Amino acid sequence: MAIMACTGFNIFIFLLTLLNNDVNSYHAVVVIHGVLTGSDSMELISNRIQEMHPGTQIYNIPNFAGWSSLESMWHQVQEIGMNIMYISALFPKGINLIGYSQGGLLARAILQTFPNHNVRNFISLSSPQAGQYGTRFLHLFFPDLVCKTAYELFYSKSGQHISVGNYWNDPHHQELYYQYSNFLPYVNKEKNSTKMPMFKQGLTKLNRLVLVGGPDDGIITPWQSSHFGYYDANQTVIDMRDRSIYKDDLIGLRTLNESERLVLITVSNVTHNEWHKNVSIVDNFLLPYLD
Ligand SMILES: *[C@@H]1O[C@H](CO)[C@@H](O)[C@H](O)[C@H]1NC(C)=O
Ligand SMILES: *[C@@H]1O[C@H](CO)[C@@H](O)[C@H](O)[C@H]1NC(C)=O
Ligand SMILES: *[C@@H]1O[C@H](CO)[C@@H](O)[C@H](O)[C@H]1NC(C)=O
Ligand SMILES: *[C@@H]1O[C@H](CO)[C@@H](O)[C@H](O)[C@H]1NC(C)=O
Ligand SMILES: *[C@@H]1O[C@H](CO)[C@@H](O)[C@H](O)[C@H]1NC(C)=O
Repeated sequence: MAIMACTGFNIFIFLLTLLNNDVNSYHAVVVIHGVLTGSDSMELISNRIQEMHPGTQIYNIPNFAGWSSLESMWHQVQEIGMNIMYISALFPKGINLIGYSQGGLLARAILQTFPNHNVRNFISLSSPQAGQYGTRFLHLFFPDLVCKTAYELFYSKSGQHISVGNYWNDPHHQELYYQYSNFLPYVNKEKNSTKMPMFKQGLTKLNRLVLVGGPDDGIITPWQSSHFGYYDANQTVIDMRDRSIYKDDLIGLRTLNESERLVLITVSNVTHNEWHKNVSIVDNFLLPYLD
């Protein structure tokens, strides 16, 4: 037992030494998939990074694939967060993080919940950072669900056991959103809690926060949610910069912008299910931030 552990440890140190000796090596990358898919959906991104940045260590998070991606956001944040902290510890020089769709919201909440992470650059690829008010992607399992009444399902105790319910943000039922939603209002600091502290430092310590989204997405609604913009009570989209989350620097977005570390990228002609399947997205908008 002792010998095995010792050998394992030596191999581990040897690998780390190899990694650290390679002065040209890129930082390790962690990739988090979207809802109702798994790590296989992120293989094009992983493979392209490997091809263009040879030698990059890539961890394509397998947890919560398929149906289990609908488990509550906090549960996923805790579990994937522990994995990311473990990976962080293996790479003292830091890692980069990419999250697609729901995975980008999970990733961002992980950064705020685990402020001791060593993530350098974080790329949010079309993620509902300010919430979601569109049901198209849910029709597979909730065929009759419509926006207008979805709050009746999501803003309830049982609705909060579903990940989507945790970031469902109905502009016409904000009082119920604040009352029932036990995830997004905390993560976006619309509500304070000592039980779920959200650390600004988790985002302000990043070298870059890169938010990618676009008007032809079709699923993220409004698409500006990928840039922290959202609907007001009249369903008019308010730009991130005119919302409290930015103006009052609730989570560190303004701090990041003022030191030129916030990058907003808008790409047209990309539907939601293409972001992670389009090599030109990887080449143009991911690789430049993977140092
Ligand atoms: C949360 O707490 C901070 C610091 O105590 C305070 O400035 C802020 O107004 C509070 N936010 C809400 C939504 O209560
Ligand atoms: C919504 O529109 C009505 C009528 O145009 C207006 O009076 C109200 O101030 C608007 N509310 C918001 C939040 O913009
Ligand atoms: C964000 O940063 C840019 C570039 O530094 C600056 O021009 C802009 O005024 C900033 N926006 C706000 C709202 O602070
Ligand atoms: C988007 O697609 C339309 C129609 O296919 C095309 O005319 C337009 O040039 C495209 N725009 C970009 C930015 O690729
Ligand atoms: C791939 O991405 C580019 C932008 O980098 C976009 O113009 C193009 O339409 C996308 N193709 C598909 C099939 O989504």
